[in-house]
Amino acid sequence: MYDFAPDSALSKAELHGELLSAADAITAGESDGVANMANVAALIWQFLPDLNWAGFYRLVGDELVLGPFQGKAACIRIALGKGVCGTAAATRETQVVADVHAFPGHIACDAASASEVVVPIVHDGRLIGVLDLDSPVTGRFDQQDAAGLEALCAVLAPALAA
Ligand code: SME
Repeated sequence: MYDFAPDSALSKAELHGELLSAADAITAGESDGVANMANVAALIWQFLPDLNWAGFYRLVGDELVLGPFQGKAACIRIALGKGVCGTAAATRETQVVADVHAFPGHIACDAASASEVVVPIVHDGRLIGVLDLDSPVTGRFDQQDAAGLEALCAVLAPALAA
């Protein structure tokens, strides 16, 4: 049994630090990337407040394919350059979207989503996929979230790549 228990009194930076420690610990020694994505999605869901979707899209061939996630069933395939995920994948730059309805081409998977952050995952110069978090709260994600999630993806990239 894994019993990671985030303290609700932690600051946002501390919460991201705790999440990173827990994710690093749970993926240590496991070489299956999909299993690691599944556990990391579960930890993000547990540690970060105000989410309605958290998970991964994997780069398969030349498109993004739905990977392990928490939340409602989502669209399965996203072309590079399409939506927030495809934009993050094509540019390899984190996308912080305060209001998804104002993002041209946003792909709505859950009508509850109001804001979104998508971080590209790169390992050895190769794009593995993206980490996607949605929130029902407008403006939920800031640069601190982006930095925390980028650190998470950088540290975990080898464990997610397999
Ligand atoms: N909103 C994303 C699609 C994925 S769902 O949010 C899970 C996008 O525009 O790429």
